[in-house]
Amino acid sequence: MKLNRRKFISRAGAGAALTVVWPFLPACENASSRANKPGINNEFKPDLDLEFSAVEREISILSGKKTRVWVFESQVISGESEAVQSLEGSYLGPVIKLRRGQKARIRFKNRLPEESIVHWHGMHVPEQYDGHPKDVIDTGETYIYEFEVMNRAGTYWYHPHPHGRTGPQVYYGLAGLLLVTDEKEKQLELPQGEFDIPVVIQDRSFDSDNQLVYLDGSRMSRMHGFLGGQILINGNPAQELNLKAGCAYRLRLLNGSNSRIYKLAWEDGSPLTVFGIDGSLLNQPKELPYLMLGPAKRADLWVDLKSKPEGARLAMHSQYFPLETMSSGMMGGGGMMGEPQTSLPHGGEYPVFTIIANTSGSNDYTLKDELYDTQLLNPSSANNMENPRQFVFAMDHMEWTINGRTWETYGVSGEEKVALNTTEVWELINSGSGMMGSGGMMDRDGGMMGDGGGMMDHHGGMMEEEENTSMQGGMMGNMMAMPHPVHIHQVQFNILERNADEVDPELWRAIKDGFVDEGWQDTVLLMPGMRTKVIMQFRDFTGLFVYHCHNLEHEDMGMMRNFEIS
Ligand code: C2O
Ligand code: CU
Ligand code: CU
Repeated sequence: MKLNRRKFISRAGAGAALTVVWPFLPACENASSRANKPGINNEFKPDLDLEFSAVEREISILSGKKTRVWVFESQVISGESEAVQSLEGSYLGPVIKLRRGQKARIRFKNRLPEESIVHWHGMHVPEQYDGHPKDVIDTGETYIYEFEVMNRAGTYWYHPHPHGRTGPQVYYGLAGLLLVTDEKEKQLELPQGEFDIPVVIQDRSFDSDNQLVYLDGSRMSRMHGFLGGQILINGNPAQELNLKAGCAYRLRLLNGSNSRIYKLAWEDGSPLTVFGIDGSLLNQPKELPYLMLGPAKRADLWVDLKSKPEGARLAMHSQYFPLETMSSGMMGGGGMMGEPQTSLPHGGEYPVFTIIANTSGSNDYTLKDELYDTQLLNPSSANNMENPRQFVFAMDHMEWTINGRTWETYGVSGEEKVALNTTEVWELINSGSGMMGSGGMMDRDGGMMGDGGGMMDHHGGMMEEEENTSMQGGMMGNMMAMPHPVHIHQVQFNILERNADEVDPELWRAIKDGFVDEGWQDTVLLMPGMRTKVIMQFRDFTGLFVYHCHNLEHEDMGMMRNFEIS
């Protein structure tokens, strides 16, 4: 076995629970994953065959000095060259366009200075092509993906998935859109080509040398998740979309941020028209006063500039919502103890992008009242409708956990095993701060974090000089009350129920009209105290897949588990 030093250090540094776990990882972890690495199957006849690599580059993002980024680059070996469209001047990977039923071969070459693997977020693919963290490859190695597109028309995306390093790898630029179309979607005659616009929303921070700054290294800022000081749209700090007056558009929104949640609203107060979410178009378009878009979520937004004059501007903002975290809550946005310092407080009001109708044109796209007619899963077909599996996302022993467990590369517990060809309901629960005194921050013996403030010991001098207990109580309560955008691989699910009984009423009032719970989804945003029931079917493929919090820092810290389909 090859000892990967960086992996060892990051695991060791992640806290006591993980250092205990580490020596018990299978001794042949690397060797066995390498042995299973799929190669080129000559029987597989791809419609699209791609060279696809992750590599370090320097590009111009801000004026002046170039910025070092990590990018996905792709070249078509065979197939339609229009299937891969790079976003000029952006660190984002190319937009990959596939049709349902097509076969894709993607030859991922890792040219980064560290391990990586690519995950196709939302796609229904066999285990070995899903980008499971066990399948990471080293610098210089190649991983061959070969899969048939079985998904519905929708907006999917791709990003790396190595355990512990997904946050920084996405942050330094590794992400891109994967758009799937199908026959049913074609009949709707939705905007295409220059009228089908990617809008990837991310937050980033730069130093005075124009270089990207990730976390400050403290455990505290990882706990919160990265929050950047400025918004980039498609990798561009201008936050502007130049469109044409007289035309209608499909905007493919992706929240590609590591942990930031947006409450998107048009500045002029007009409603948003959403007609797609994650892996589906909706049966009917939906009008919302604002849209809550958590990390990893996609939404299709209809924008009609037909009656707008040339020169018109439409601004999209993120509106205020009261998120009680340390940076916005009890600490008053100050800079204590390394929580993210940002000029864009999470839940604050700030501009996200502006559409500028700087020229005019015309098209005759219209949005139909009846769209896709998706057949959703019938709850009575689930084998556990009355008794759903419950997964609690919580802080435990100062670790982010799911049902009290943290990440194990191959670990699957009994409650994480499901059967192929069954339909199940899962209840996903954000414990919020309701766990105080019942096992959340208390350790299992009921002691206050066991050793009297373990978390602060190595980092915040501040803490040690303060009156420990009262301070901790308030701070930990707030720390625990964090949103968790929960994502399940392999499936698209339907949301049956969103329960906000335990959500802070003030927060709920500010966000309740912003959820699109219709259609097929792969990620659901759980605010503190929130619970949802989702229904899904396990079909076609067996194996190990992951489910996790898509706050990438939470995921990297271990808020991820396997589930096994067999
Ligand atoms: Cu978008 Cu497991 O990831
Ligand atoms: Cu995914
Ligand atoms: Cu989380």
